[in-house]
Amino acid sequence: MASVVKTSYIYIYIYIYVYSSNIQCISTKSRYLFPLLPYQFLCFSSVLMAAENFPLQDRVAIVTGSSRGIGKAIARHLASLGAKLVINYSSNSAQADEVVSQINSTSDHPRAIAVKANISDPDQVKSLFDAAESTFQSPVNILVNSAGVMDAKYPSILNTSLEDFDRTFDINTRGSFICCKEGAARIKQGGGGRIICLSTSLAAAFRPGYGAYIASKAAVEAMVKILAKELKGTGITANCVAPGPIATELFYEGKTEEMINRVIGDCPHGRLGVPEDIAPVVGFLAGDASEWVNGQILRVNGGFI
Ligand SMILES: NC(=O)c1ccc[n+]([C@@H]2O[C@H](COP(=O)([O-])OP(=O)(O)OC[C@H]3O[C@@H](n4cnc5c(N)ncnc54)[C@H](OP(=O)(O)O)[C@@H]3O)[C@@H](O)[C@H]2O)c1
Repeated sequence: MASVVKTSYIYIYIYIYVYSSNIQCISTKSRYLFPLLPYQFLCFSSVLMAAENFPLQDRVAIVTGSSRGIGKAIARHLASLGAKLVINYSSNSAQADEVVSQINSTSDHPRAIAVKANISDPDQVKSLFDAAESTFQSPVNILVNSAGVMDAKYPSILNTSLEDFDRTFDINTRGSFICCKEGAARIKQGGGGRIICLSTSLAAAFRPGYGAYIASKAAVEAMVKILAKELKGTGITANCVAPGPIATELFYEGKTEEMINRVIGDCPHGRLGVPEDIAPVVGFLAGDASEWVNGQILRVNGGFI
């Protein structure tokens, strides 16, 4: 294909050169340069088209918890915008490998890798960034922290065990803290740096049965707002995306049909959200157009809250 384009261009060049030679007002020098105009135009327009269709071209993104659910949809969406991806998981490598092969099947060069790392362990988060930098030979541009857990027993605070409280805070709050800390130190400065943490719309609703979960995410929201200010001068923005109910394993686990129907009944669109409802919002925040959105909590819930 490239050789056909090249050969056609040589013919066009000769044609325009001969044609312009017959026009008196065109100087000799211009006769050489004149035929280059279509080429320059083609180059310029292809650069513009690439920037428009692939606004994250060659940026390196880490998406924690992207082997399934919301993180997976976010990773696939960022890849469709041109980003190179680190798919993170903590236990199920088969699901992460599947996401990697889905992304890599759309490109000539491998653009995604899977990296196992528990986000609540600082050494493992360091390794996550190391793997991104060494594989893609570039600093990380975008960090999306989607890994998270919820207590599927939906206990009142009175009935929440300390073990469940600790596990929830260990992954949701400590994990987000460690990822934000590493991101603040290692994300490329000077423009385009992005930190996006997944919170929950429930942090604005205070529903019974979600005490530890909501508290763990409210802490993340507070931290991200402060982080955005502390990153002054780096060109890195920090925001939270706070989904409403999204049909994933985390949402369905431990819920009866009656509980699920009640949630659907409270959704103005009469359905649960799907991960693909969240991914484009994160895609926007990951791109240059969102620079003025900083230190914000975007509640994305179809009007549920
Ligand atoms: N679904 C909803 O209704 C909803 C609503 C609001 C907010 N959210 C938030 O959105 C985020 C994603 O939720 P989801 O519904 O997509 O959950 P999900 O389907 O349960 O997926 C969770 C992902 O996180 C990974 N993970 C869990 N613990 C981890 C750890 N310690 N280190 C690294 N990865 C870990 C899992 O990988 P492994 O399988 O390998 O463990 C998996 O890839 C969470 O932060 C959640 O709180 C979800």
